[in-house]
Amino acid sequence: MSVHSEIKKVTTETLRKMKFDKEKITMLTAYDFTTAKMVDAGGIDAILIGDSAANVMAGFETTLPITLDQMIYHTQSVVRGTDRALVIADLPFGTYQSNPDIALESAVRMMKEGGAHAIKIEGGKGISKSIKKIINAGIPIMGHLGLTPQSIYQFGTYKVRAKEEAEAEKLISDAKLLEELGCFGVVLEKIPADLAKQVTESISIPTIGIGAGPHCDGQVLVYHDMVGMNKGFSPKFLRRYLDLYSEITGAVSQYVKDVKSADFPNQNESY
Ligand code: KIV
Repeated sequence: MSVHSEIKKVTTETLRKMKFDKEKITMLTAYDFTTAKMVDAGGIDAILIGDSAANVMAGFETTLPITLDQMIYHTQSVVRGTDRALVIADLPFGTYQSNPDIALESAVRMMKEGGAHAIKIEGGKGISKSIKKIINAGIPIMGHLGLTPQSIYQFGTYKVRAKEEAEAEKLISDAKLLEELGCFGVVLEKIPADLAKQVTESISIPTIGIGAGPHCDGQVLVYHDMVGMNKGFSPKFLRRYLDLYSEITGAVSQYVKDVKSADFPNQNESY
C-alpha cells in the first residue's frame, strides 16, 4: 500500500515519514533528461545521479575518474526531466574528503549549478567534519556505508563488506553518527542482510539498500542494470526487469537489414 503516492513533490521529510509509516522507499539512478522523465513517470520516490555514471555512461572501470563538472552536467539534465521525485546527486571522489571548506564548496556547486535537492557522500567518522559543515549550510546529505566504490583501491575487491564483527561494529557506529550529524538517510551497499536489519532498526533515518537484503527502508538499483542494458554485470542482488540489451541490439540489426535491403524508408515514410 502506498500512503505517499499522491504527494506532488517528494522531499527529505517525505522519506522520513515513509520510514515512520513503514512504506518502502524506491530509488533508481538516472543520468540524463529522457531517462529521468521515464523514471519519474514510473512513480519513483528518489532519483540518484550516482557517480556510477563513470561506469555506465562513460565506460570507466571505477567511479573515481568522474569530475564535479561532469556530475553537475548529468544532474542538470536529470533535474530538467523530473517533476515529482527527490533528486539526489553524488559528490565525486576527491571533492569532499580533503577538508570541510572544499567539501562545502563542492556541495554548494552541486546545489546551485546542478539544481540537486540533496547530495550523497561516501563514508562515516572520517568525513564527519565535512558532513557537519555541509549540513550547517542547509544542504541535505544522504550517507553511504558498506561497499563504498570510491574506496575500491583500499578494499581491493567488490565483495560483500562487513562480514567480520569489527567492520560490522564500525558500520553500525558510523550509521548512528550519520544520524547524529543530521543526514536524512543512508545507502547501505553490499552488506549482510542481518546487519542491514540491525542498522535499519537502530536509527530513525531511512536506510536504502543495494545488495543489503529486504529489511532496509528502501531499495536502490542502477537504472542500466535494472533494465538489462548492462549484459556483463550480474551480481546476486540484481533483479533485471527488462532485457534491453537484446531488445536494442535486435532493433539495431533489423534497422541495418531494412536499410541495406532498401526496405526503409518506404513510400509512406517518404515526402
Ligand atoms: O553511484 C551509484 O549509482 C550509487 C548507487 C549504487 C547507490 O552510489
